Amino acid sequence: MKPLWLIVLRHTTARCAGGMASLLVAAAFVGSVQADPISAERRASLDHLLRHDCGSCHGMTLQGGLGPALLPEQLADWDIDGLVAAILAGNPERAMPAWDGLLSDAEARYLAERIKKGVSN
Ligand code: HEC
Repeated sequence: MKPLWLIVLRHTTARCAGGMASLLVAAAFVGSVQADPISAERRASLDHLLRHDCGSCHGMTLQGGLGPALLPEQLADWDIDGLVAAILAGNPERAMPAWDGLLSDAEARYLAERIKKGVSN
């Protein structure tokens, strides 16, 4: 006769297959929600960062300064992925800092979309 724990184990694994499947679906769902985890509060502080930190080089209204203007007209040739990469990697040869330690990909994407659309819009 098999030990009881083995039967219990078998039994729960069989039942768990269904449970696991729905757990995976739930995890995938949570994952898709987390693809855009930027809260309204965080968006407000990113907007503040854009004006004050990015703005310290690119100008408060992003018209340019030490760094180039970040207005939709100047960024016409850039796509969002290129802007995200530029923000996260920076340019060590010029004064553009790398933001990858401070901003998540989603946050850099938010800023890229923001400047591409125009901060006043
Ligand atoms: C210390 C100054 C400085 C700060 C702070 C700064 N930048 Fe820059 N940024 C630059 C310079 C200089 C360049 C041009 C680099 C080059 O020529 O490749 C640049 C380039 C860029 C570019 C590429 C566009 C282009 O025309 O070259 C983007 C996008 C950008 N910055 C976004 C940002 C964002 C968003 C922030 C804030 C999160 C930020 N920058 C903060 C100096 C800065």
